[in-house]
Amino acid sequence: MSIVVDLSNRVALVTGATGQLGRVIATTLARAGADVAVHFHGNEAKAAELVGAIEGLGRRAVAVRADVADLQSVRSLGETAQATLGAPDIVVACAVSQVWPWSTVLEEDPADYEDQFRSCVMQNVHLAKTFLPAMKERGWGRYVGINTECLMQMGETMSAYVSGKRGMDGLLRVLAREVGPAGVTVNQVAPGWTISEQDRAAGTEENESYSKTVPLRRRGTDQEVANVVAFLASDLASFVTGALVPVCGGNVMPTV
Ligand SMILES: NC(=O)c1ccc[n+]([C@@H]2O[C@H](COP(=O)([O-])OP(=O)(O)OC[C@H]3O[C@@H](n4cnc5c(N)ncnc54)[C@H](OP(=O)(O)O)[C@@H]3O)[C@@H](O)[C@H]2O)c1
Repeated sequence: MSIVVDLSNRVALVTGATGQLGRVIATTLARAGADVAVHFHGNEAKAAELVGAIEGLGRRAVAVRADVADLQSVRSLGETAQATLGAPDIVVACAVSQVWPWSTVLEEDPADYEDQFRSCVMQNVHLAKTFLPAMKERGWGRYVGINTECLMQMGETMSAYVSGKRGMDGLLRVLAREVGPAGVTVNQVAPGWTISEQDRAAGTEENESYSKTVPLRRRGTDQEVANVVAFLASDLASFVTGALVPVCGGNVMPTV
């Protein structure tokens, strides 16, 4: 086995591919050789642009709209992806519904907790039910959930986001045990506050007050997050499952 991330002959689905991190994850998986189903919710123009970029890399791609909080919508996404590219071997759950601004528990709207539960927990339930049976049948599959360093920071005002992402963490670790015997791995990547296209456009890459607490003394980049996703999606990560990998320069360090 060569020591490169080789996703040739793999089909990947990236939810939230139109988002800041999803777009780099989708093109990185394509650069590693995968055909990619590009999921979007509202941003059809960005999805079309990504499909063009991925086809420009010589890979196949399709844009698929879905509300990831709705099982029927995810099932229909699955049918479209399968009909055009084949059943996904790799699923990356990156979509998120953004609740902003964050408030204290005493002030946060109860609906925000329900929104985050749907976005972070139910998205993964629906994706698992839709895509993992075929992976189990084939005896090979990769599921990567995008979590966050906030899961371990538990800072004031983060409660809706943290409760959703902690629920997602519990769900995916149980799932890892359940599908492991069939050769399917389930892992998570937990980025820190990451530099992406919107920062480059606005010139907001640097943030000293954040970076000074990070052992590597800087913010990470979208590409650095995508690199770890690509590794976990590949054969190089064949014996890694149930893991949550922080990509945050050491800003949080889960203990064992
Ligand atoms: N960016 C960071 O610094 C950072 C740090 C830590 C963790 N994360 C995690 O990384 C992931 C991506 O974050 P991001 O900053 O790239 O997010 P983002 O730019 O806000 O993108 C969110 C994505 O989710 C999609 N989406 C929103 N609501 C949806 C719904 N109901 N159904 C389906 N799709 C929906 C959006 O689709 P449309 O655009 O097509 O509407 C978009 O593609 C998230 O899981 C987030 O928690 C990000």
